[in-house]
Amino acid sequence: MSRVYLTTAIDYVNNRPHLGTAYEKIAADVIARYHRLVGRDVRFVMGNDEHSQNVFKRAKEQGMDPLAYCDRMEGEFREVWARLDVSFDDFIRTTESRHKVAVQEMVQRSLAAGDIYEGVYEGWYCVSCEEFKPEKGLIDGQCPVHRTTPDWIKEKNYFFKLSKYRDALLAHYAAHPDFVAPDSRRNEMLRLLEGGLDDISVSRAGQAWGIPLPNDPGSVVYVWYDALINYAAAAGFGADDALFDRWWAQTGESGRTVLHLVGKDITRFHCVVWPAMLLSAGLPLPTQIFGHGWVLFKGEKMSKSLGTVVDPLAAVEKFGPDPLRLYLTKEIVFGNDGDFSWDRFEEKYNADLANNLGNLVSRLTSMAGRYRQGRLVATAADPVLTEAFGGVATEWQAAHERLALDEACAAVFRWIDRLNEYIAVSAPWHLAKDADPAPLDRVLWNAAEGLRLAAVMLSPVIPASAREILRRLGEGAAIETWHTARVWRTSGDRQVTVKDALWPRLEPKKETDVTEPTRPATPTAPATPTTPEGTVAIPASQWPLDTRISIEDFLKIDLRVAKVLEAEKVPNSKKLMKLKIDLGSEQRTLVAGIAESYEAEQLVGRTVAIVANLKPAKLMGIESNGMILAASADGGKATLVAFEEAPAPGTRIK
Ligand code: MSP
Repeated sequence: MSRVYLTTAIDYVNNRPHLGTAYEKIAADVIARYHRLVGRDVRFVMGNDEHSQNVFKRAKEQGMDPLAYCDRMEGEFREVWARLDVSFDDFIRTTESRHKVAVQEMVQRSLAAGDIYEGVYEGWYCVSCEEFKPEKGLIDGQCPVHRTTPDWIKEKNYFFKLSKYRDALLAHYAAHPDFVAPDSRRNEMLRLLEGGLDDISVSRAGQAWGIPLPNDPGSVVYVWYDALINYAAAAGFGADDALFDRWWAQTGESGRTVLHLVGKDITRFHCVVWPAMLLSAGLPLPTQIFGHGWVLFKGEKMSKSLGTVVDPLAAVEKFGPDPLRLYLTKEIVFGNDGDFSWDRFEEKYNADLANNLGNLVSRLTSMAGRYRQGRLVATAADPVLTEAFGGVATEWQAAHERLALDEACAAVFRWIDRLNEYIAVSAPWHLAKDADPAPLDRVLWNAAEGLRLAAVMLSPVIPASAREILRRLGEGAAIETWHTARVWRTSGDRQVTVKDALWPRLEPKKETDVTEPTRPATPTAPATPTTPEGTVAIPASQWPLDTRISIEDFLKIDLRVAKVLEAEKVPNSKKLMKLKIDLGSEQRTLVAGIAESYEAEQLVGRTVAIVANLKPAKLMGIESNGMILAASADGGKATLVAFEEAPAPGTRIK
């Protein structure tokens, strides 16, 4: 059986989890549940990063011993993860002895390889990032992430010979194109490697909170060097050889995957430093590091230090975990940033859950209840429906395999639309008047089969709701593996349970929330035509929509300033120009239809406006990552959107 060892970043415990940190854990949980569903052996690991100075400071502020404080925070984190239905198999803390053993072993191996040496570090240090900051990484003397002035420190440090591993890392990247994903992060890391690497500090002097260096117990291991080792520690490194052999040492053999899921802000540590540490220790590298985007709130990274946090439990208290899990998975293109707002969340709750999936469950169970005393009589499969399902299932699975979690969800929701349409077109309320029950049974059975399969496909995202749907359909709540579940059944009558709506529709707010920008009213259904079974007859997807968008919709579009670095006409195309652009934090390739209006030389060095969070698209075989903004009257000559004064690449346009 193939194996997946899946990890998330381990969290600092100076604050409780927020929606941004929860997003990562929910995404990882969706991935873990998908792999389990398709029959893989999964070990999903999360944990807490405790040896940070901020954690030490927070404990002291609360008059607590740091370890006792971390014990308390472990309880709080575990409670949040349990309420979000996150199904990790192991939870590691960096103060545990298994972790300390692994850290000491790793340091010993790098010492033995001659990769750790003594020196002095003098420079900036941002405690909130727990990072040594080069001068060139600061903006106006401030940390760009936390917008605070870092500390200037001078201390004895041990250094790790990161520079020694540059060529080996470049070779590994070349041999393993999927090592870092998505492509934008891989390109960013490649640029970094190509630019050369400096050695890095791996110890801190004069601190007691941390793991002592085996060769100099007066220093402690630098918190990032310490934290990265959690991934190997949880797989048994240095403590449990059989476990390590099972989950890590065999990586690289077919069917063995080690996947790290981390935020885009910490990819350098994971895609450069961590692999170099593993190479130094003579250990295999992970299969893939996926750098997901940020959850934004009003256009800013959700972060405690920026004061832009949303408590995930606020949504769980009102709606249970699943609507939030669905929103984060379906609405954020996995790999990109995505905005969260309560208005948008409630809009999607109504559209996807109350009107679409919830309505399908209600109308189907209530029709079976009313017309057939709750009995779903097994019949032959409807070939049109089963053929459509074949396509959806392939699409769903392919999307999961390439970690396109949002696309996997979207595929299932298109399937749910299809089932709602099937009911609307088949009109079981008319069939119920026939003396022959067979046509009615056939529609109810096939729609129920379609719904069962939708629930199974959505079970990684909304596990509790999927089980409840199966229960209402007269199935056991246990979810079989995909291999058996995906077969369209034609036997085994079932008895449905008719209950209250799974997701009651939320009514639009009566008063405008003065803290939010005003926006047009949420598009709602017209006076709802009802069917004899008392539910809405028109699929939500077919409602006439108000075409105006809310400010939240607008904020979903990530408009950025970019600088054109290179331009060349796409061969065999009149219109297309291939551009390499600088976005501040990364460089990208995009293809624009401006070749009839601009020569390549006119574009290089120009500052342009782009849509940065468009899904990649292939144009003439070239992957385009974004869209350049230009105006053209009636399809005539295109004019690029320009700036009065050129802002720095990467600046957000709002
Ligand atoms: N402790 C380090 C990670 C060490 S891993 C060896 C750390 N901790 S953190 O608590 O600051 O962040 C934990 C994870 O949450 C990181 O992957 C980070 O990128 C992610 N996120 C923090 N804020 C986030 C958002 N607003 N949105 C999405 N993910 C975010 O970094």
